[in-house]
Amino acid sequence: MTPSAIVAFLDQHVVGQDEAKKIIAVAVYSHYKKIGRARDEGVGLAKSNILIIGPTGTGKTLLCETLARALEVPFVTADATSLAQTEFVNDEIDAILQRLLEKAGGDATRARRGIVFIDEVDKLKAVSGQAGGASGESVQHALLKIMEGAPVRLRHGQYIETGDILFICGGAFVGLRSILAKSQAFGFISAGGGEDQRILERLNARVKPTDLFEFGLIPEFAGRLPIIAGFRELGRDMLVRIMTEPRHALYRQFREILRDEGVELAVADEAFGQIADLAIEYQVGARSLRGIFEEMLTPVLYRVPDDKRIARVSIDSLFEAPRYFDAQGNPLAVA
Ligand SMILES: Nc1ncnc2c1ncn2[C@@H]1O[C@H](COP(=O)(O)OP(=O)(O)O)[C@@H](O)[C@H]1O
Ligand SMILES: [Mg+2]
Repeated sequence: MTPSAIVAFLDQHVVGQDEAKKIIAVAVYSHYKKIGRARDEGVGLAKSNILIIGPTGTGKTLLCETLARALEVPFVTADATSLAQTEFVNDEIDAILQRLLEKAGGDATRARRGIVFIDEVDKLKAVSGQAGGASGESVQHALLKIMEGAPVRLRHGQYIETGDILFICGGAFVGLRSILAKSQAFGFISAGGGEDQRILERLNARVKPTDLFEFGLIPEFAGRLPIIAGFRELGRDMLVRIMTEPRHALYRQFREILRDEGVELAVADEAFGQIADLAIEYQVGARSLRGIFEEMLTPVLYRVPDDKRIARVSIDSLFEAPRYFDAQGNPLAVA
């Protein structure tokens, strides 16, 4: 798959984050190209793992899942926070690879082309971890081993090569922004307006490895994540699009459910906007949309199965009762 084909596939499921999609598509394309070539020519390769920085609920996990589906490679996710809470980090890491192998149907060759997504790596700051758990720094060291490509022996004595596995790390990196602001103020190259200015702004906005060290990642770990993609906070419009546009968007799902009952559901733009506004207040990105949307539909889903006259339901506002109509378009009184 070419980078643009990867982006086109991602676009069907993940709304927005266009810049990050491009960066990731190019990185992934080069990755699979490189491992293909390295094997043919027997040359070593410098693997470029990816770091995704962005607030919670903005599509980081969804994008990685979708990516793995597009490429038809096995995919597992792990959580850095829980790695830091266990005494046996290496066992936990082995378990991640074990799961990858299972996802690959036990096929080690398939497993080594897989993608491992490790979320919340920003919680692995080099400061000491929780009592009884591993320190963030020691988890970083443990992860380094597999990210650098050491073969790992699994439970049943099977070895898994990690050299070709693509690692994508994610995290919100709260506080990185102020580090960036500082490091950019220092040595900021200025230029006149126009195109030059825009290019410079882009260069200056890039997260540098030194910023990650300052945040608390050890240099070796940050150095293994040379490709950095930034995810943006989702605004109102994006949240509305998330509910309506993707292949498996909430609105499509529930229209389908009601269609099975012989009922057409129509939700007005106004209501979607209100849901988006509430979701923004909850500050967990797109994560709260489903809950709010389902709550809005609960009375409908409760009433429809009992009342065969209903042919259409219309919701104009989150704060008004749904309106019901029969097949002739006559309004039906609320039961
Ligand atoms: N950009 C997006 N496009 C479509 N859906 C999204 C997007 N961001 C978040 N979502 C929705 O919110 C849920 C949580 O997103 P997730 O990818 O887990 O966020 P995180 O960035 O915290 O990993 C997803 O299951 C998806 O339904
Ligand atoms: Mg996530």
